[in-house]
Amino acid sequence: MCGIIGVTGDEGALETIFDGLRRLEYRGYDSAGVALVDQGVLWRERAADGTHSVEDLVAKKAAPPSSRAGIGHTRWATHGSPTVANAHPHVDCTGRVALVHNGIIENHAELAATLADQGHTFTSETDTEVLVHLLEDELASGAGLADALRTTLGKLRGAFSVVALSTSDPELIVAGRRSVPLLAALGQQTGLVASDVSALLGRADGYFALDDDQVAEVRPGSLRVTTLDGREVDPTVVTVDPAWDVVAAQMGGFCDFMSKEIHEQPRAIADTLLDRRAGDGSLVLDELHLSPDVLRAVDKVVVVACGSSFHAGLVAKYAIERWARLPTEVVIASELRYREPVLHERTLVVGVSQSGETLDTLEALREARRAGARTLVVTNVVHSTMAREADGAIYTRAGPEVSVASTKSHLAQIVALDVLALALAQWLGTMGARAVAAVLDELQSLPAAVADALGRAKEVDDVADALLGARDYFFIGRNLGYPVALEGALKLKEISYLRAEGYPAGELKHGPLALVEPGTVVVAILDPLRDKMRSNVAEAVSRGATVVAVAADGNPDAGGDHVLRVPDVADPVLAPVVEVVPLQLLAYALARRLGNDVDRPRNLAKTVTVE
Ligand code: AGP
Repeated sequence: MCGIIGVTGDEGALETIFDGLRRLEYRGYDSAGVALVDQGVLWRERAADGTHSVEDLVAKKAAPPSSRAGIGHTRWATHGSPTVANAHPHVDCTGRVALVHNGIIENHAELAATLADQGHTFTSETDTEVLVHLLEDELASGAGLADALRTTLGKLRGAFSVVALSTSDPELIVAGRRSVPLLAALGQQTGLVASDVSALLGRADGYFALDDDQVAEVRPGSLRVTTLDGREVDPTVVTVDPAWDVVAAQMGGFCDFMSKEIHEQPRAIADTLLDRRAGDGSLVLDELHLSPDVLRAVDKVVVVACGSSFHAGLVAKYAIERWARLPTEVVIASELRYREPVLHERTLVVGVSQSGETLDTLEALREARRAGARTLVVTNVVHSTMAREADGAIYTRAGPEVSVASTKSHLAQIVALDVLALALAQWLGTMGARAVAAVLDELQSLPAAVADALGRAKEVDDVADALLGARDYFFIGRNLGYPVALEGALKLKEISYLRAEGYPAGELKHGPLALVEPGTVVVAILDPLRDKMRSNVAEAVSRGATVVAVAADGNPDAGGDHVLRVPDVADPVLAPVVEVVPLQLLAYALARRLGNDVDRPRNLAKTVTVE
């Protein structure tokens, strides 16, 4: 996720862009940049400070130009590390066109190869840079900037929003999108485009939300919108909600970051899956940096992680063992270091970490490297220490996660690990191309299934109302339902401060059942072993527990005092991605009813850099 902005007709264009970038910084902050046309010349400044790039950029401006039009970008890296060279805006070979981009261009490698053959020089590792060279070609053939953008966007696969400007028409900014939000607005004799409404507040009373494959041509006081084939669209402007201040707008109308991030999960999963398929349908993992030969030699996988990332690793064990037939051990990172683990050059050690900085996981990976193992990290932060130190990486593209309780990064981790499991299966030959493609298709259906699960929040709220007052929870599941149970219990204890234990359902009778009494809540993940789960639920019911069943729509006999239904997912290995959703919503609903600060729970930190 990145933030983009474009401004025209504004005497203080540079300051307006800086202000907009500050408001968009919550979307990404590892690098930032700005470009303006100043007296016929393109002026550009970029910074890549890692955490405060916008302020670093503001501090850098040596001589503010007198331009009235410009574009700006604040980045959360997905392709290419967060360096100044990779920071947007990107500029064409002639230095006359600049462009900013949010999203992923899936076919960038093919486009870049063709452009390089034609003599274009690339100066970054980003997927974005192809766009500016494509614009350059169109302009060279006589097209205007808007036509050039329409033609360019027609050549792309992926999800994107872009804004561009050129020296040939200095007061025109053009913008377009597909699957990634982009708003256009008019002020008094000005025009703006931005990733979201926070950057428009106080500068425009209303905005127009571009639809997929539409292009906006914005000039001072005028807005023209067309489809990619040039048909004009009526830009019906909606009014900015007067109740919104900048913080409310950054939260997209949600009350807090946690609920916003829960609702961003379909996008986070979709982005994590973008760019993973080659033209022939096979699986590709660009950022892996481990050759298939190295991976083919792997005979054991060890996943190391903490908290929710550990739970994602537990789900991955099923995927890796089932698809790639590799023995897989999942170890709590703080437990790996001091136990003399058996690791060697054929062991693949996978660190899973949203932040890429958690000290326990970092040290476990270092230990693994010292032992000669191959290391790989699944992380949300491209420039993190783990990403830099590991042999290879797979990036979750969930965007910055602000709330301490992990939600969107957790689901993105499961999906990224599924992609890794499939890649191992493909390279080891344990699955044929058609079987890999079928699972990839299933993965692609998950964003819609998660959106469906989120649409059932009202049912979860009703259950939360009924449970209010209970203080003891058991979350139980078997097989793939077990990590889901662990994650549900962790979410609940983190933000509601209620006692919640995650247990393998079959273990209940070996001890914890002694604690079950009237008033205890047992949340049972019924699938995939629904028949076995039935007897475990019966054990709890006969001790007076209140049972909340989490069951797929197609599960015919979901007993219990309350049932939380989730959409059916054909492959049971993928089901945890939807089953976790009502548990996140339940924890959130109970915590809010208890009056807790869900974004900043007591005693906890987002990134734990101590042992
Ligand atoms: C989850 O909600 C937690 N806040 C926590 O368990 C977290 O998953 C853990 O600290 C690991 O963090 P990481 O993914 O950044 O390594």
